[in-house]
Amino acid sequence: MKPLLQPEDYRRYPILYVDDEPFALETFRAQFKEDFTIHTAHDGEEALRLVSENEIAVVLTDQRMPRISGVELLKRVKEQRPDTVRMLITAYTDMDVVIKAINEGNVYRYLTKPYNEDDLRNTVRQGIETYYLMHERERLEAEKIETAKRMARANRLSAVGTLAAGMAHEINNPMTAVSAFLQMIPEKYREDRKDKEFWEQFYRRVCEELDRIQHLITRMLRYSRFTGQDEYNLQETDLNELLEDMLALLLPEAKKRLDVFKKDLHPKLPTAWMDRERMKQVFMNLLLNAIQATERGTITVCSRLASRSNDRAVLEVAISDTGSGIEEEHLQKLFDPFFTTKHHEGSGLGLLTCHQIVEAHRGFIDVESEPGKGATFIVRLPLNPEEHDRRITERRKEADEASA
Ligand SMILES: Nc1ncnc2c1ncn2[C@@H]1O[C@H](COP(=O)(O)OP(=O)(O)OP(=O)(O)O)[C@@H](O)[C@H]1O
Ligand SMILES: [Mg+2]
Repeated sequence: MKPLLQPEDYRRYPILYVDDEPFALETFRAQFKEDFTIHTAHDGEEALRLVSENEIAVVLTDQRMPRISGVELLKRVKEQRPDTVRMLITAYTDMDVVIKAINEGNVYRYLTKPYNEDDLRNTVRQGIETYYLMHERERLEAEKIETAKRMARANRLSAVGTLAAGMAHEINNPMTAVSAFLQMIPEKYREDRKDKEFWEQFYRRVCEELDRIQHLITRMLRYSRFTGQDEYNLQETDLNELLEDMLALLLPEAKKRLDVFKKDLHPKLPTAWMDRERMKQVFMNLLLNAIQATERGTITVCSRLASRSNDRAVLEVAISDTGSGIEEEHLQKLFDPFFTTKHHEGSGLGLLTCHQIVEAHRGFIDVESEPGKGATFIVRLPLNPEEHDRRITERRKEADEASA
């Protein structure tokens, strides 16, 4: 079998040999100094000190030593450095002690005295490989977790960055207009104070632009209210009832533009745990978008029970319209902050808000659309987000245990 490590790698991981016979220590050094980086100790106390001060991959100890026996030493090493690979070298007469130590998990391997040089070399190499694998796994795991954390942070920061850049842009435009007008004032005031048309236009534009900023700020505040860090207040909820409430609220607005508002609500929908106010905001945004996209058409609101992987029930709400639909090139950008095709009418924060809220409920939103024919937004929600989290944690634990 191909060795796992290169000869120089074995030397990177120091080993410790413990024996109260000075001659045994000398022999060991002479035999293995080319192969390994060796520390030696002539009793348990010295060995424990070396283990606490150095990174030791493998400890080999004689069993019969004064004060602290080999088995006792390995037990203490395990407490201090659980990763260090522990080996016992004994005479056959100590078999009972060895078996007990192995059963208690304190000893990884034992060798009989007198040892065979090649056997011992191989055994120590295997010990170093075991240490290396355990250590590498831990290091890789730690790296993986760190990378995941960094990515999550980067995503969050880039979302904040996009939001800030979008906001700066949205505020800058009206500010530029206002500032341009203000700069014209001194000259205009001097030269043509009576230019009624100018002053009227000036007044109207400045008010409009300030309105735009005001509007944006209101939207941002609403957005942060619904997606902010405040605790989610999960309540057992009849989703159909919540949808009916939203429909009743929007019907007057919808009637102005639509032919038909259809409902297709599942009669036996189980209750689900959700933050009602926030979830209302989700359906409000989706319904408003549908209404705004649909001139004289139909909107259908459908609730149903679906089961996804592992037969876990998922609630689905589909809001379909027969409106303008969404261009292929816009589909990717729908959930980006400030993406809107409604010019000054929309702030482009509606779908982002929906996404954040649904994600916090451990659900997700799918979009299907045929340009010119309409769009369907499907919200999928687990019945209980907290239970969903618990299950995921359990599954991860099982997977970790299985791979351990
Ligand atoms: N049902 C739909 N049909 C067609 N296009 C849609 C639909 N829903 C969303 N869109 C497109 O997605 C864009 C982003 O929607 P979003 O709700 O995030 O912002 P908005 O409606 O433009 O502004 P607001 O912040 O006021 O909601 C819309 O401008 C529109 O182009
Ligand atoms: Mg919208």
